[in-house]
Amino acid sequence: MAVLLAQPIRAKPWSWPPGWVDQEPLLERQHDGLEAYLVELLSIHGPMHPAWTAAEAVAIERGCRWLSWDLRLQLRLEERWLSAQGCLCPGHRGLHRQAVENTKAALLETSGDRQARLRWLLALQSWFTNHRHGPDATAYGIARSNASAR
Ligand SMILES: [Fe+2]
Repeated sequence: MAVLLAQPIRAKPWSWPPGWVDQEPLLERQHDGLEAYLVELLSIHGPMHPAWTAAEAVAIERGCRWLSWDLRLQLRLEERWLSAQGCLCPGHRGLHRQAVENTKAALLETSGDRQARLRWLLALQSWFTNHRHGPDATAYGIARSNASAR
């Protein structure tokens, strides 16, 4: 039976850290968690993994929906905290919006099609890695600078 092991790193609003110095590490841990979950889903969808039972297919579909949900939560939290630091530009927000829309569409379009789902997961992994090391890295650097200037 395929078992998804990675757990999302969720930040409960009542325990959100108050400043960027603690918010950034939490966002990075969430990035790490999402990346680990993606790797796990990719492995399960890959050609080396045996065929799924019906129960496994349902659990894996649920896992993909959790990934989508956790990605949305992480992007919203990042937007909130980057905005508070004055460094969320419209382009960055637009990239998030597009990623969420693409994810929602892909979940519907690839449901029940393991190969199509694998292609989408690979595309999402590529987007996530590029986004993390591109727009996110730039914005986090500015946020760090703004936070230390206060
Ligand atoms: Fe971002």
